[in-house]
Amino acid sequence: MTCRSHRWTTDAQIPPNTKTQQGKQPQIWSPGSNKYPTYFSNELHGLSQPDPTNHSNHSHSSDQNLNLKRSFHDHQNKKQFPLKPHSSTTLPVKILITAGPTIEPIDPVRYLTNRSSGKMGYALAAAAARRNHSPLLISGPTNINIPDGTDFVGVESANDMYDAVSSFIPKVDIAIFAAAVADYTPAKFAEQKIKKSGDQMTLTLTRTKDILGSARSQMNFQGTLVGFAAETEELIENARRKCLNKSCDLIIANDVSRSDIGFDSSDNQVTLVYPEHEETLPQDSKEHLAYHLIEIIEDIHASRQSEQ
Ligand code: PMT
Repeated sequence: MTCRSHRWTTDAQIPPNTKTQQGKQPQIWSPGSNKYPTYFSNELHGLSQPDPTNHSNHSHSSDQNLNLKRSFHDHQNKKQFPLKPHSSTTLPVKILITAGPTIEPIDPVRYLTNRSSGKMGYALAAAAARRNHSPLLISGPTNINIPDGTDFVGVESANDMYDAVSSFIPKVDIAIFAAAVADYTPAKFAEQKIKKSGDQMTLTLTRTKDILGSARSQMNFQGTLVGFAAETEELIENARRKCLNKSCDLIIANDVSRSDIGFDSSDNQVTLVYPEHEETLPQDSKEHLAYHLIEIIEDIHASRQSEQ
């Protein structure tokens, strides 16, 4: 695999609850697989290793027995997606992409999560790499190989993802939020397995931080900002509200009440919701759609730059 480590020159610190490994090949980051996240394709781009004495993470995965798998997607993508040349205004850029679900630990054996497979976000990272950009994928646990040419930060909880995004977003030109982030997390992590008692139990949840909603306001991100909206009703209205409230350039809205698109399916159908208009794209495979979406986002980025 060709590594493209030179492009992530950053003084960002790896957040304490993420793990990195130097010089590892792509691998799968999935919950309960006893594999732990991993890594920057190569020489870590000036990023520091996490403090091994930091035990604040609630993860119960381990670095042991890493079963590293090479990605074969890049080879396939080369056949399927001939490269369209960049326009003169769309140079290769750094793109942060969030993907997958988050998992919110309840106790050592239980967690809250959702049905996101990561397919959409990983397809976007693969497409960005094929278009010669520098994607950084910040992902919750999935069973998908990390695409070639993609740098990677594996996280578990919404809070971990917030920390990772805050660390890296100052260094990117475009940020795309495809992850399905938990809106609520257990108020308290039980150190021991919770025992049965009584017919009912109540789990108290607290709000997580809105990562996309913090990009402009808290993280002061000035680049091109793209969110997703997973809706089961009033798709356009809800997506437009998110677009305006979170100061996005684009919200990619999908109807997750359908079983043939959205969560964990191979296809998706999306409506592009801009601040003032929208456009519905035909249903397509996530791989093809991602390639088209990256081209659209390149154009938005180019027009933002020409306005500055
Ligand atoms: O992973 P797949 O199985 O391929 O499925 C793809 C997908 C359905 C997960 C994807 O296409 C999608 O819609 N992702 C967004 C899912 C989601 O959480 O949507 P939302 O409407 O709840 O959130 C709106 C936006 O805010 C999203 O960009 C989300 O990443 C972001 N968000 C949400 C909550 C939070 N605490 N922080 C966030 O950044």
